[in-house]
Amino acid sequence: MSDSDTLDHESEREETESFDTEPHPNLYRHGRRYSLTHLEQHPWPIDEIEKDRLEEQHVLLRELFDDRLYLAPIESPRSVLDIRTGTGCWAMECAERYPSSTVRGIDLVNMQDEWVPPNCEFWVDNLCQPGWHTQYTNIDLVHINQIQGDRQLLSLLLEGSYSCCAPGGWVEIRDMRVQLDNPGEDSPFHNYIREMATAQARDGRQMDLPLHFGAELTRHGFTNITERNYDIPLCTKGRDKLKERIIQNWTTGLEGYSFTLLEKHLGKNFTETVLMCASARRALKGKIEGYLQIQVVYGQKPS
Ligand SMILES: C[S@@+](CC[C@H](N)C(=O)[O-])C[C@H]1O[C@@H](n2cnc3c(N)ncnc32)[C@H](O)[C@@H]1O
Repeated sequence: MSDSDTLDHESEREETESFDTEPHPNLYRHGRRYSLTHLEQHPWPIDEIEKDRLEEQHVLLRELFDDRLYLAPIESPRSVLDIRTGTGCWAMECAERYPSSTVRGIDLVNMQDEWVPPNCEFWVDNLCQPGWHTQYTNIDLVHINQIQGDRQLLSLLLEGSYSCCAPGGWVEIRDMRVQLDNPGEDSPFHNYIREMATAQARDGRQMDLPLHFGAELTRHGFTNITERNYDIPLCTKGRDKLKERIIQNWTTGLEGYSFTLLEKHLGKNFTETVLMCASARRALKGKIEGYLQIQVVYGQKPS
């Protein structure tokens, strides 16, 4: 933290009775708001800009998935957990679609909406703590979107999901990663991806973690594993409106995604990161061969 950073010790809004009522201090850096308490675990902004981006992303991906909220073959789950729920938009929509279900969204940070459907609730919980799952039982569907390269967390989440799933219950995990045709190429976009891979690795994260989801589900005892990949060309301009918007949504998040990790692990200052992200985005307007790969993997707890 530097002298230019500012702290906010005021309590976050307390939206529902199920929320943690402790104050959640914020850290403001370069106009973005972070959770000070959880900066190590979540070095990304939790402000309105990021919430809007995540909500738009939810709408775009739902369209990509033909209006499905999940791909696992379960028609009307009675009990659902949305792990790392973020804004909670997926959990709220799931509750609206299945009014006889109970949907719980869990997150480190209280950043969900004030008004929620009556069958939806949000819990503040740290999923890095072993045993986080003990209060949830008989779950039909555990939904996990975006694990941000944290293999240890993935293991904890799958261990917990297995334990809280009902026999025959499903876990579905979804994430995205960049797949470049020629990773060694020398464009500003390739350079940005290489720098981020290094920073992530130094932070104990791996950018290709989604490639291991299937194997990890198997290792944790799940069966009937199914993997679906959606490849969105990085250069989609003019070809497919939905895919173009998915790429745009992703690229508007580059700065927020990069600031903390590039500074912490590669010593980049704010201006350097802004310039690097802008150049990466500009390069995408040219010809970058590769994909933003969206991976969806689901598996079932044996009956
Ligand atoms: C990319 S965001 C939200 C993604 C959300 N599932 C969506 O689809 O919009 C990841 C979320 O994980 C939460 N998170 C990070 N570490 C966590 C932890 N140890 N326990 C619980 N939530 C955590 C963050 O607070 C953040 O809201």
